[in-house]
Amino acid sequence: MPSPAVTIPSAPVNTEQVSISRSPMSSPHISRSPNQPSLHDRFRRNSITAIRLPKVLHPVDKDELRLLLLENISQDAVQAFTSQGFQVDHFSKAWSEEELISKISSYHAIGIRSKTKITERVLKAANKLLVIGCFCIGTNQVDLTNAARTGIPVFNSPFSNSRSVAELVMAEIIALSRQLFDRARELKEGKWNKVSKGCWEVRGKTLGIVGYGHIGSQLSVLAESFGMRVVFYDVINIMPLGSARQLTTLNDLLQRADFVTLHVPELPETIDLISAAQLSQMKKGSYLINNARGRVVNIPSLISAVKSGRLAGAALDVYPAEPGANGAPFDDQLNTWATELRSLPNVILTPHIGGSTEEAQRMIGEEVSSALTRYLNYGSTVGAVNFPEVDLRAIDEEQINQIRVCHVHNNQPGVLRQVNEILSPYNVEKQYSDSKADVAYLMADIADVSRVDIEKIRDQINQTSANILTRLLA
Ligand SMILES: NC(=O)c1ccc[n+]([C@@H]2O[C@H](COP(=O)([O-])OP(=O)(O)OC[C@H]3O[C@@H](n4cnc5c(N)ncnc54)[C@H](O)[C@@H]3O)[C@@H](O)[C@H]2O)c1
Repeated sequence: MPSPAVTIPSAPVNTEQVSISRSPMSSPHISRSPNQPSLHDRFRRNSITAIRLPKVLHPVDKDELRLLLLENISQDAVQAFTSQGFQVDHFSKAWSEEELISKISSYHAIGIRSKTKITERVLKAANKLLVIGCFCIGTNQVDLTNAARTGIPVFNSPFSNSRSVAELVMAEIIALSRQLFDRARELKEGKWNKVSKGCWEVRGKTLGIVGYGHIGSQLSVLAESFGMRVVFYDVINIMPLGSARQLTTLNDLLQRADFVTLHVPELPETIDLISAAQLSQMKKGSYLINNARGRVVNIPSLISAVKSGRLAGAALDVYPAEPGANGAPFDDQLNTWATELRSLPNVILTPHIGGSTEEAQRMIGEEVSSALTRYLNYGSTVGAVNFPEVDLRAIDEEQINQIRVCHVHNNQPGVLRQVNEILSPYNVEKQYSDSKADVAYLMADIADVSRVDIEKIRDQINQTSANILTRLLA
């Protein structure tokens, strides 16, 4: 298998047009007449002519690709799909399991939010389905394991709302330090209560960020622009943004910070990450903010810390148990301590709205629709939650007889030998394979393949013992 061709753009420089002069005490100085293009311009022009355009691939099968979009997925996503030539059926409601079972067999892709359940029974009925897009953060509405075993990657959009959460935290920091919610509620109830005791500017205060990932790092930048000092604690070493500083222990952070904000995932080791022992380490009069996951904070311990005055306030957006629908009560039946928590002064409670903004919804639409399109047209599974992540660089436009093989198969020994035997009469330009649990995925670009050969290659790979699904793109 020859190594892939490499194109090095030629960028000849006409040295006659450029003179470099160096005065005794200064750095080199480049002089150029006003009409002469700069080195940068000429390099760009030469590079652009050398860039090879990627070839737009399409499935070899004649079938027009049909997409089913449920739960009122954004019109931007509909447009993105129709502009690719896909046929789109768009519905505003979720479908029941029975409805899905009766209709899903006509579709190659489905886009859902959190209410549509893709169960094992639905997957059994979905004999043409190639890919599932969850236009939301979570994916537990989909039977991920069975989807992978049927050769169906599932995509979501885990980080599109990071900025929205970071901005909400900034609002909470200021609202807590000015006791904004209590003052606003009193005035709405008709009570004038102008207070400055215990109210502070945030400038010069220390923000302690626990978990410096997508949200924590965005927040770090925002907080510094408000004049806050930022320290963070993370289980991995991360390059700090701006003047932020990573601390080596959680206790160190708790002892230094005026505001502690949590941005870790829910894992066995982060459940009750902040409990009585950690709260006792926090500065007297500091604040705790949790927009991560409800079980990361032990709420009875938090209630005691606010009552004792250790904490001057708290903001919570997430809870161990959350109501399933809008309008449902947030009471002691749901969480035994709910009434006590609701009665505390300077404690802001919000209904898991951290990522709920129009911008985040739009980003989710863009991100998931482009992931589905990249899979359908190019076979890329980068970002899939249940599948090996595989991608190949693009086929160039002029490589007309090149095809892409996308082969999902059971993860067992001997498969690559079988497939490579089938491909051995051709020139394999590039190939990549990876596995995740029971499923493996191979992508290979094959040169100089005739129309007749395409059918032959597909039939032969389809007949291999480990084959789950084989698609050819050309
Ligand atoms: N309130 C909301 O609406 C909302 C919206 C989006 C995300 N979230 C939640 O916010 C949290 C963070 O999201 P993200 O996108 O920034 O995640 P991320 O994966 O980008 O970052 C998480 C960071 O936490 C670190 N971490 C893991 N375990 C840790 C531990 N024990 N101690 C310290 N650091 C640890 C990781 O190394 C990582 O850097 C997640 O729990 C997510 O579910 C909430």
